[in-house]
Amino acid sequence: MKLQALKVGKKYARIPIIQGGMGVGVSRSGLAGAVARAGGVGMISSAQIGYDEPDFEADVQGCNIRAIEKHVKLAKQQAAGGLVGVNVMTALQHYADHVQAAARAGADLVVCGAGLPTDLPALVSGTDTAIAPIVSSRKAASLILRMWDKKYKRTADLLVIEGPLAGGHLGFTPEQLKNIQALDFDREIQAILEEKKLYEDKYGVSVPVVVGGGISGPSDIEHILSLGADGVQIATCFVATRECDASPAYKQAYIDASEEDVVIIKSPVGMPGRAIRNAFIQKMEQAPIPIKHCCHCIRKCNPKEIPYCITQALVNAVKGNLDQGLIFCGANVGKIRELTTVPDLISSLIGRTD
Ligand SMILES: Cc1cc2nc3c(=O)[nH]c(=O)nc-3n(C[C@H](O)[C@H](O)[C@H](O)COP(=O)(O)O)c2cc1C
Repeated sequence: MKLQALKVGKKYARIPIIQGGMGVGVSRSGLAGAVARAGGVGMISSAQIGYDEPDFEADVQGCNIRAIEKHVKLAKQQAAGGLVGVNVMTALQHYADHVQAAARAGADLVVCGAGLPTDLPALVSGTDTAIAPIVSSRKAASLILRMWDKKYKRTADLLVIEGPLAGGHLGFTPEQLKNIQALDFDREIQAILEEKKLYEDKYGVSVPVVVGGGISGPSDIEHILSLGADGVQIATCFVATRECDASPAYKQAYIDASEEDVVIIKSPVGMPGRAIRNAFIQKMEQAPIPIKHCCHCIRKCNPKEIPYCITQALVNAVKGNLDQGLIFCGANVGKIRELTTVPDLISSLIGRTD
């Protein structure tokens, strides 16, 4: 496959693959550094990234900020000049602080999803950190690009389009996710490409677009590029790598999962999410799981109204306590058969056999 470098602000990634940010703790410096070193863009997820700091219970916010800075620096050291970014969920209570910590630590890129990051340009102002919103519709792309144009007289450095087959939180309604074919998402991608062209013309810049969700091989990548996109965002496939920061049990759950094990759940974040239907989900379907402690991590979350604490469930999962843990995954998790390494995975994704 003939690939072109991906423009990320003023810099370039040799391989146009962004490894999608995965919280909690699934993509930290180990995975992101390895992807960046291999030529892609490695993304660290900021969501509860400090979960294993010794004083986490006492100072969640302080530990998360410290861990963002630590992991950006570690990943950059490993990356040998490759690009490292941070994924920050807009729904987080301390989203602005996370973005600023990432920029301060020298992240090449900040990508924000789970809501529209209306004030993101102000948060990185005066730094070299490039910014990208995640959108799943033309409507959302139009809204955020128009806001940034009006308020900040600028546009995005990059646009991430997340489709309905992605993992984690999804920008679609449960009804839309029941009939993904009917969405005709290729048409939506092309509509988003038209939308961003308005701002490319206005500002005389290029705004590369990467598309994620369900990509697991060269033909998927070729298809996305044939629609006019500049690259892809891939997450699920990167979990079953030695370099991924999740526990061995988490990776094994990916290897063992089949297509039938994948379900759409309601997340306390207020969006649907895709996950492996394990003992935890079955328990949660029967009765709410009592919340022992709330660290106020998500802005709109009301602990009195939710069936489980998503932070606790995601931390349990990443540590390997799977029966009490929520394992997010993309729709293609059933295709993963074995553990691999980041360089081997990237070679197979781009159809290179060396
Ligand atoms: C385990 C897991 C955790 C994720 N966590 C986040 C997250 O914290 N923030 C976010 O914006 N996207 C998150 N995502 C979405 C990915 O970044 C990515 O865009 C998407 O999963 C791409 O589709 P794929 O997994 O089919 O390759 C997560 C995905 C997975 C599988």
